[in-house]
Amino acid sequence: MSDKYAVIGNPIAHSKSPLIHHAFAKESDQSIAYTAELIPLDGIEAGLDTLQQKGFKGLNVTVPFKEQVWQSLTDKSERATLAGAVNTIVFNDDGSRYGDNTDGVGLCLDLTQNHGIDLANKRILLLGAGGAARGVIQPLLAFQPAQLTIANRTLSKAQTLAALFNHLGPIRASGFEQLTDNFDLIINATSASLQGDVPPIPSATISSQTFCYDMMYSSTDTAFIQWAKKHQAAKTSDGLGMLVEQAAESFRLWRGSKPNTQTVIDLLRQ
Ligand code: ATR
Repeated sequence: MSDKYAVIGNPIAHSKSPLIHHAFAKESDQSIAYTAELIPLDGIEAGLDTLQQKGFKGLNVTVPFKEQVWQSLTDKSERATLAGAVNTIVFNDDGSRYGDNTDGVGLCLDLTQNHGIDLANKRILLLGAGGAARGVIQPLLAFQPAQLTIANRTLSKAQTLAALFNHLGPIRASGFEQLTDNFDLIINATSASLQGDVPPIPSATISSQTFCYDMMYSSTDTAFIQWAKKHQAAKTSDGLGMLVEQAAESFRLWRGSKPNTQTVIDLLRQ
């Protein structure tokens, strides 16, 4: 029988994870069963117990459970501990559970390998200071950028994150309107695109060399991507590649080998 995996969330019906993981398995000639499981909003602990009892080998975790799972798991990777969120669970054969977070490495792999960006010595602007932003800070700093600026609508949240990660590299906090310099890379980790909004940052943050990346993905340009194009950003991308790369890293944790991602990114773009 095929090993069983699932993505858990609420809502979950539109998740692309089953498609992605089945494509990884097919591409690497493996057989897995991967489903999307709707978990009641107040039922994460019972949900984890049930799926583990049913013999699932691992789970992906999505909105709104990443922080709750982080709190409930004692055995976690360092990157998950720093991220404050778990997006991947391994159910070990001895019944124990292990939590990891592959979102940050997924973003960095998409930027460096798929888009060919060298992050070292770059001036990076990260928009947002919620869970999505927090999860990518340590992986970005590991590439030794010249500066990582966290800008957020609520300045105090950006300041809290900057203080939390200060020991790992050059990081500073800012409000949106106070930004004056341009950046090599601007990453939108706010949820503003969900409402069709763009964080109100000055257009001077974009030069003709700037790459603008939205961690959201969409079949049409997000509001942030539209804004970036309007201000002549050198290049733009949505977060589809990040989605596939974080999934590939989860797959590697469970299956021991990293699948080919480009074919799956191309498949999803069709
Ligand atoms: P996620 O897990 O997606 O990061 P979150 O923790 O609720 O979700 O954080 C949402 C982020 O998007 C926050 O940085 C939020 O800014 P505030 O901290 O000021 O609330 C930001 N955000 C949401 N809607 C926004 C909007 N319309 N304009 C600018 N920032 C927005």
